[in-house]
Amino acid sequence: MISKYFYYLRGWLTSLRYFARPALIAQRGPLAVYRRYGTISIGQRSLFWPHAKLSCEGTAQQAAHLHIGERVQIGDHAQIHCGVSLTIEDDVMISWGCSIMDRDFHPNGLGEEQRRPTRIGRSAWIACNVVILKGVNIGEEAIIGAGAVVTRDIPARAIAAGNPARVIGQRPVSA
Ligand SMILES: CC(C)(COP(=O)(O)OP(=O)(O)OC[C@H]1O[C@@H](n2cnc3c(N)ncnc32)[C@H](O)[C@@H]1OP(=O)(O)O)[C@@H](O)C(=O)NCCC(=O)NCCS
Repeated sequence: MISKYFYYLRGWLTSLRYFARPALIAQRGPLAVYRRYGTISIGQRSLFWPHAKLSCEGTAQQAAHLHIGERVQIGDHAQIHCGVSLTIEDDVMISWGCSIMDRDFHPNGLGEEQRRPTRIGRSAWIACNVVILKGVNIGEEAIIGAGAVVTRDIPARAIAAGNPARVIGQRPVSA
């Protein structure tokens, strides 16, 4: 049985190689990291499930900043793509198969590709196979239902679902 110490050792080695500062993170399987013209910072005790992917790619003119807080969980095959500024605050849970991005990767017409800062607030829960698009701000403790495509901001403690995601309920305020 592979112990959690091995997962932490592997995560720490990954942090030495790719992240702005060393971090005690657990890496339970392969983690793909791509970084160019940008910085990645990760808080302590965050957990990466197998085959998650992080990309952080700014431009020669503007660096990109990907920040993942403490105790964040990133599920299997989840993909996080940062092209300008993407923040995932402390205690966020991201389930398997999610795609989160602050950029389009290709121009949608004439001119430059669109990139807009994107944030997921503290203790939000992003259920499986959710897509979160550029410029979205997800409030603290919000829940995004399975399979949602989030194109607009979601308020704190809202429960949102569907494509495009709409608020379908409200999470009770934690004691
Ligand atoms: C978001 C979620 C937590 C809400 O659960 P809930 O509060 O029990 O919601 P309900 O099942 O009572 O559904 C309420 C309404 O929202 C709709 N709804 C719920 N989840 C939905 C979703 N993911 N997409 C679209 N509509 C959804 C329901 O159809 C229902 O609509 P109706 O009132 O017209 O019948 C849950 O539906 C969900 O997505 N769970 C997935 C969890 C997951 O991915 N876990 C992976 C491990 S982290």
